[in-house]
Amino acid sequence: MEKIIMNDVVKAILERRSIRKYEDRQITEEELNTILTCAFNSPSGGNGQQWFLSVVQDKAVLDTISKAFGEMMLSNPDTPERIRKSVSSGDWKVYFGAPTVIWVCYPKNNNETNAALLGENIVIAAQSLGLGTCYLGGVINYLRKPEAKELVDLLKVPEDFELLFGIAIGYPLESPDAKPRDFSKMVRI
Ligand SMILES: Cc1cc2nc3c(=O)[nH]c(=O)nc-3n(C[C@H](O)[C@H](O)[C@H](O)COP(=O)(O)O)c2cc1C
Repeated sequence: MEKIIMNDVVKAILERRSIRKYEDRQITEEELNTILTCAFNSPSGGNGQQWFLSVVQDKAVLDTISKAFGEMMLSNPDTPERIRKSVSSGDWKVYFGAPTVIWVCYPKNNNETNAALLGENIVIAAQSLGLGTCYLGGVINYLRKPEAKELVDLLKVPEDFELLFGIAIGYPLESPDAKPRDFSKMVRI
């Protein structure tokens, strides 16, 4: 890659990786408040702030969602053997055991853009504090199904909002290498 300027923000962006292993201790209130302050300072069309967050630190709620999703995957014959093995291993959690998960929602009468931008502010703010994160998108299709309504009710998402993704947050217990990036996906004019 060409020479770049390095500063704290660039460093946080470049050093962020999806973390799938977390320490079993909660993040501090100050860390959470910092992350939420950065989230709610995201840009939005016409400053409409078209988003809603369900901030979950109740392990029982996260475990209920994880268990139901895991059972659904095991009962689905299309679930690949590799995933089947991992889910039935006992300690599998869809949220990777992170102590905090922020579920990001967008208004049903709008698009996802604003909420998605807020999501990345959460992730980069967390990275800058030394915390790890992972987007949880795989579980969302399941949570949007009518049979999962009781689970979404646990998240207290207002009726007029749709889940976009979860973001697992916690102290990282791994430091994975960066996956390859394709710098050809652009045109310079
Ligand atoms: C919208 C979205 C949904 C994702 N969903 C999942 C998920 O359900 N499970 C998971 O392990 N990783 C998930 N990821 C993480 C990606 O796999 C990861 O960002 C990608 O492989 C690049 O790796 P990196 O984040 O470490 O740079 C998701 C990422 C995004 C942006």
